Amino acid sequence: MANLDITLRDSFGSKLGVIAATAGSAIGLGNIWRFPYVAGENGGAAFLLVYIVFILAIGIPVMISEFVIGRNAQRNPYGAFRFLKPKAKWHLVGLMFIVTAFMILAFYSTVAGWTMEYLYSSLLNQFKGEDAAALTNTFEAFRTSGYQPAFWQLIFMFLTAGIVIAGVQKGIEKYSKILMPMLLVLLLALCVRALTLPGAGDGLRFLFAPDFSKITGKVILEALGQSFFSLSIGMGTLITYGSYIHKKEKLGNTAVAVSAADTLIAILAGVAIFPAVFAFHIEPASGPGLVFITLPNIFNQMPAGYFFAILFFLLLIIAALTSSISVLEVVVAFFSEEFNISRKKATFWAAFGIAVLGFVCTMSQGPWDKVQLFGQNLFDILDFTSANILLPVGGLFIVLFVGWFLGKSALKDELSNKGTVRVVFYGAYLFIIRFIAPIAIAFVFLNGLGLLG
Ligand code: TRP
Repeated sequence: MANLDITLRDSFGSKLGVIAATAGSAIGLGNIWRFPYVAGENGGAAFLLVYIVFILAIGIPVMISEFVIGRNAQRNPYGAFRFLKPKAKWHLVGLMFIVTAFMILAFYSTVAGWTMEYLYSSLLNQFKGEDAAALTNTFEAFRTSGYQPAFWQLIFMFLTAGIVIAGVQKGIEKYSKILMPMLLVLLLALCVRALTLPGAGDGLRFLFAPDFSKITGKVILEALGQSFFSLSIGMGTLITYGSYIHKKEKLGNTAVAVSAADTLIAILAGVAIFPAVFAFHIEPASGPGLVFITLPNIFNQMPAGYFFAILFFLLLIIAALTSSISVLEVVVAFFSEEFNISRKKATFWAAFGIAVLGFVCTMSQGPWDKVQLFGQNLFDILDFTSANILLPVGGLFIVLFVGWFLGKSALKDELSNKGTVRVVFYGAYLFIIRFIAPIAIAFVFLNGLGLLG
């Protein structure tokens, strides 16, 4: 009987399971592909500084708030808002999350597809002897080729859907626990190689010596968007995962541990990439291709680079999978709980819809480059809009909801596990989610989009 709450609903098995699954969601292409490319486009160290401030001041409180909503309501995000505040319009925020999930997974699966192609090419040793210029051409030719990246993207969506059908415990936990630490070790090896390249110092200066004149409204907005994207917050992923967290787990500690791990991996990715970028004379602002151009260069200069490349891309695909399943899970939990259909059916239709949007997204990079809005292709639009607009707006609603509408007793119960654990930073947390975070998000958002004049 003691376990009644977890027999009714699927849940994470152990403490390590919660952290592993949430870290699995947070750590992914966002850290290793998106962080370096966005940092490279936005001034490097100045961006990193603002990014870290946002993780601490806003990201962690938003993450805790998502856990609180999910564990309190025991439902998918849309159902959670409807259950907690039946007469209000909060469930519309839940619908926005579903739209965001579709958009994110459409371009995320594109990049995951690139990673699979790079694993395949590494297996065939195709990058051997190519210098930075040749690797740039190789990447561009592949990215714009249409059906080839679309093929890999489809395979990635199949894998994602397959894991989601297997269910929460068996599907998500099992994969995250061993492989993520391995990725960390491999990343450290890449850092060592990058740091010993001639000219590595310029890369370190780029990443760690801030030039404050580089901080603009757009840089700040991109840092906010990246912090949300990397922590998997702002679209209900962690509301969904929160609903699977056992009542005995401490939500605050989990959020801090996951955020620390996520930030560490992003910084290590930066330390692996930027010294190499400068050593090989690659443009830091090369955009989404940055990592795919830089990494093969490092492997080419490494003892046993052939094996490192294979292992690295393999682990990166797995890191991407533990993230993509957490995005798909939001849509699947919504479909299956709100429309009363089986998980299998829900997964099929969600993955199918995303695959169609993802296909258009991939094709818009090459053969269908006429698919444009404001002079940008669909990939860039989905990437920018979801991270820098939809996630911060989602996060704004989440903190407003928990800060002002959920009710203090429910909030206290979740944070203290019904009074059984001491909550250290309650006052600070409440002040942040009620005032600091909403005002900061709104300001950064309006300022970054140039709406404050
Ligand atoms: N955080 C993941 C990454 O860094 C991507 C991700 C998973 C995500 N779930 C999310 C991003 C929810 C935003 C919202 O790769």
